[in-house]
Amino acid sequence: MKFPTVLGTPLSSTATKVMLLGSGELGKEVIISLQRLGVEVIAVDRYENAPGHQVAHRSYVIDMTDGDALAALIEKEQPDLVVPEIEAIATPMLVKLEAAGKVQVIPTARAAWLTMNREGIRRLAAETLGLATSPYRFADSLDDLKVACAEIGFPCIVKPVMSSSGKGQSKLDSAADVETAWNYAAAGGRVNSGRVIVEGFIDFDYEITQLTVRAIGKNGNVETHFCEPIGHVQVHGDYVESWQPQAMHPVALERARDIAKKITDDLGGLGLFGVELFVKNDMVWFSEVSPRPHDTGMVTMASQTQNEFELHAKAILGLPVDVSLHTPAASAVIYGQHEAKGIAFEGVAEALQVPGTDIRLFGKPESFARRRMGVALAKAVDTDTARNMAKAAAAKVKPVIVEGN
Ligand SMILES: Nc1ncnc2c1ncn2[C@@H]1O[C@H](COP(=O)(O)OP(=O)(O)O)[C@@H](O)[C@H]1O
Ligand SMILES: [Mg+2]
Repeated sequence: MKFPTVLGTPLSSTATKVMLLGSGELGKEVIISLQRLGVEVIAVDRYENAPGHQVAHRSYVIDMTDGDALAALIEKEQPDLVVPEIEAIATPMLVKLEAAGKVQVIPTARAAWLTMNREGIRRLAAETLGLATSPYRFADSLDDLKVACAEIGFPCIVKPVMSSSGKGQSKLDSAADVETAWNYAAAGGRVNSGRVIVEGFIDFDYEITQLTVRAIGKNGNVETHFCEPIGHVQVHGDYVESWQPQAMHPVALERARDIAKKITDDLGGLGLFGVELFVKNDMVWFSEVSPRPHDTGMVTMASQTQNEFELHAKAILGLPVDVSLHTPAASAVIYGQHEAKGIAFEGVAEALQVPGTDIRLFGKPESFARRRMGVALAKAVDTDTARNMAKAAAAKVKPVIVEGN
């Protein structure tokens, strides 16, 4: 594995160049971390003025699912590293370019390819690695889905194989819900492949993200580091609040880390991963994994000595990392609430009045009612207090439509 050992000067012939594929709020923070180390950053997204575009050296707007467009841009910019920030990318082209020695993808092109499709990562986890997961079936038509749901039983969850943030996902309580779920999945999938996964519903006590970092250690070998577990709440498959640390049964914690180690060992490369797990007493199920910073990990901007973005930036450059917890903390999402361009935010000063709270506004050019536009962060003596503070701060920030826009 190659990794930059020497860091250059941006915008010069010695520059260490990193290209972000996807430049949303998570990419923006990775870019800021890279900028602090003097890395030259090229931010790519499918729309203009994406959050990461606003803090990079250069930016491009391309359709990242178009393999030829992606290859042409990589050829033009010659980055040392390509860092996928989202799933909707022509990953087969990345696999091809990596195999030809033309680019190094973080953590690996194969990891980006496997995780963009629920089928790839689920079969790897359950069938190759033997990790505990919910029972599952795949279906390509309404008739297939009826059979699959009957086999899995109710309640169950149907998701397009290519989707994220809960899009096209629904919970089914009986056979009467199958047709609606099929239509909803067809409308919500990223690529209309018409393929869905049906998963048995896991009645978990809580769910966590186990942030796991593969970084170069003192002896030059890859070492695996585990952050404290992050607890979170999802509404309609989308994260609304998270906190760290999540208290866990010691056996469950051990199992969680064992699963995280196995899946990240297999995916390989360097960088931070968000391993999503369901927990009930001391039982742990693997759900999915992001080979990149995780939205629920935004809490680490308040809780950790080095946040998840900094950990990712350092690890991919071959630098050592510190995953230590600094203080219990929480995050709560601020939604757009309106469908409009160029909205404004009132109440930020009021939100920041409580000591220990902080706000991030992502600078997204267009707001949707359920689009994540910012996040409130809170540090406290314990996570319950931090959660209340973060939610209160988020509630004080009011997106408004300003006259003239
Ligand atoms: N099999 C399941 N049993 C119970 N809850 C589930 C199951 N699958 C998903 N969920 C819930 O839906 C959320 C989103 O599902 P996930 O598979 O992570 O989709 P996404 O890729 O959109 O994040 C999970 O975090 C969890 O709260
Ligand atoms: Mg998820």
